[in-house]
Amino acid sequence: MSDLITLEIADLSRGGAGVARDSAGRVVFVPFTAPGDQITARVVSAEKRYAQGELVEVLKPSPQRITPRCPAFGKCGGCEWQHLSYDLQWKTKVSGAKHALSRVQVDSNTVPFDELPAEQMWEYRNRIQLRGFRDTLGFYARGTHDVVSVQRCDIARAEINAVWSEAKVEGAKLTRPYKLELEVSPASEGGHVSKAWNAGHSAKGFRQVHDAQNVKLQKWVQSQITPGQPVFDLFGGSGNLSLALAEHAPAVHCVDIQRKVPLADAPANFRLHSGNVLDWLKAEVPNLTKQLSGKPCSAILDPPRIGLGQDFSGIQLALKTLGVNEVILVGCDPDSWARDVSRFVRMGWKVHRLGALDFFPQTPHVESLARLVFH
Ligand SMILES: C[S@@+](CC[C@H](N)C(=O)[O-])C[C@H]1O[C@@H](n2cnc3c(N)ncnc32)[C@H](O)[C@@H]1O
Repeated sequence: MSDLITLEIADLSRGGAGVARDSAGRVVFVPFTAPGDQITARVVSAEKRYAQGELVEVLKPSPQRITPRCPAFGKCGGCEWQHLSYDLQWKTKVSGAKHALSRVQVDSNTVPFDELPAEQMWEYRNRIQLRGFRDTLGFYARGTHDVVSVQRCDIARAEINAVWSEAKVEGAKLTRPYKLELEVSPASEGGHVSKAWNAGHSAKGFRQVHDAQNVKLQKWVQSQITPGQPVFDLFGGSGNLSLALAEHAPAVHCVDIQRKVPLADAPANFRLHSGNVLDWLKAEVPNLTKQLSGKPCSAILDPPRIGLGQDFSGIQLALKTLGVNEVILVGCDPDSWARDVSRFVRMGWKVHRLGALDFFPQTPHVESLARLVFH
């Protein structure tokens, strides 16, 4: 298992690793490599048809390689694509979303596909989660809970880096290892950095991490919703994707499992509901169906990484009963998103438009978008 092998990286997988074939024709995935690299790697785990490798040495670098900006690149568990041009990162993300669809027999070539790459590829994250103890402050290392100490983070917003030293001094006074979340509030709330010590994940509730890309996502979703129809924003947070729609919709129902406080200036026809999406639908569909009396409605579905999972059938049925004729499906995991798209297709929905958006430059993550219609 620990033998070194020489490989030529042929491709980049959507999971992030470079892809090569060893002398026996077996596929080997090697993180931190670029297509065209000649490398030596150590095989760290192997199945019959593929193996996972660890980069040992770049013998001849690919022309596609660029110099990573961060000194912790390769050690930190954060961004693993700093050695790749943004152009290659983006192409791989788009082909990754399309590949996920093709695996579940959904053809992405017959409908428009909107590409929404990032213009701001560095200093974009409005919140980060750090780990620290004594004179160490940084991120978990790749695949372990060891902490890689860093002095700044190049994908975090400048406001976050500005309080780094101060946070480290405060953290050094604590007697135990700690978790620290630093978050820049939205510009409309002053753009201040808050520190949450040892709080749960996303201390202040879910928020998209890239503000400029979030504006693009909001606009894309708005452009896909037929004005004048009631809107159900399921897994909606505080209405990030639907609040603006209230201007053109008779009603917006935003449902999220986390209890949210309505914005002070939210219009009266924007209604926040707390609860599990499927439970809420089961309880509310009979009343809502009477109120809506057969008028067409729209739905936005932006579930967590697992997608709609085992609730798919119940949610899909409720949407049909409500008279929903268009669904905007947003997914942060291409495989679970594609699985949900394919399940809608099997239930008679048609894919009308697709897209991909980048919330996480320098990493393989991609947000996948679909508009599905039912007639
Ligand atoms: C990817 S976030 C999207 C939030 C929102 N669309 C936004 O842009 O801010 C997923 C949201 O789903 C919520 N959630 C997770 N499971 C849920 C469930 N079973 N029912 C309702 N909400 C759920 C989470 O609290 C989270 O706010």
